[in-house]
Amino acid sequence: MKTTRAYAPASIGNVSLGFDVLGAALQPVDGTPLGDEVEIVDAEQYQLTVAGPFAHKLPSDPDTNIVTHCYHYFIEEMVKAGHTVSPVAVTLFKNLPIGSGLGSSASSIVAAFYGLNEHFGQPFCEDVLLLMMGELEGQISGSVHYDNVAPCYLGGMTLMTGQAAPVTVSLPVIQDWYWVICYSGISVSTSAARNILPKEVPMATALTFGRQLGIFVHALHSGDAKMAAGVMQDVIAEPYRKSLLPGFDDARDFAMQSGALAFGISGSGPTVFAVCNDRHTAEAVEQWLTENYIQNEDGFSHVCRIPSQGACQQQVEE
Ligand code: HSE
Repeated sequence: MKTTRAYAPASIGNVSLGFDVLGAALQPVDGTPLGDEVEIVDAEQYQLTVAGPFAHKLPSDPDTNIVTHCYHYFIEEMVKAGHTVSPVAVTLFKNLPIGSGLGSSASSIVAAFYGLNEHFGQPFCEDVLLLMMGELEGQISGSVHYDNVAPCYLGGMTLMTGQAAPVTVSLPVIQDWYWVICYSGISVSTSAARNILPKEVPMATALTFGRQLGIFVHALHSGDAKMAAGVMQDVIAEPYRKSLLPGFDDARDFAMQSGALAFGISGSGPTVFAVCNDRHTAEAVEQWLTENYIQNEDGFSHVCRIPSQGACQQQVEE
């Protein structure tokens, strides 16, 4: 019986300066896996099993699980494209906390679509698969955005194009940077965090947003870490969303005073991230955040890099 196992990493959406259009994959430096996994096995009929540390936070009805939606969507698209389909049983290992700002739903969606595509012999190309992933992410969060699914699927730092092909382009990353992430343990719904944002932005904000994004992309391409870090400010969401994040201002103050180059909200929070030039600073910031930003036993922090690989197949245990 054919079995496919797939892993899809956590990610930082927005990266402060690129609301809905910029994202980065995450890999803890100590080798800890930080992402959801799926195992897909040929079966008589579709069935979903959930396991893993955050499985108990998912809805108990498998029909409402996003992975089930992914499966039905994928099979419909296969039929439309004239491919032969056969049922599979899926196990979701829910390793990422829900409503964490680490791209938890994207991780499940990407693991499911990537795993199904591999299982059925890659019927869909990268862009078609990405469009499917964005569609399903939109069903969960209330609007289609690719800033988690794209880096989660492809790895690295990705910038959305707004076009059907390519959906996203890959940006160079500053190899020296360490990315500290800290999840406080509380849950923030992405749709609620979107609803508190104003529907329009002032002209001055739009100009700052455009300038920062343009300069950031230029700085990455020219390898200018100082210039890149200098424009990592969130003028769109952070001023509103930080009210949902207890301890945010103190955490930022500590990180910046300790030598971090930038600090912000990962996706819609409550996870925060700090960019550091060296591992020593990153570990000091991580320790402080662990002791001061985490609110309950679900919280955690990691020092991460941005991996060049996103979703991948894993060895299947016999
Ligand atoms: N760009 C999205 C938002 C990411 O900030 O709402 C959500 O993880």
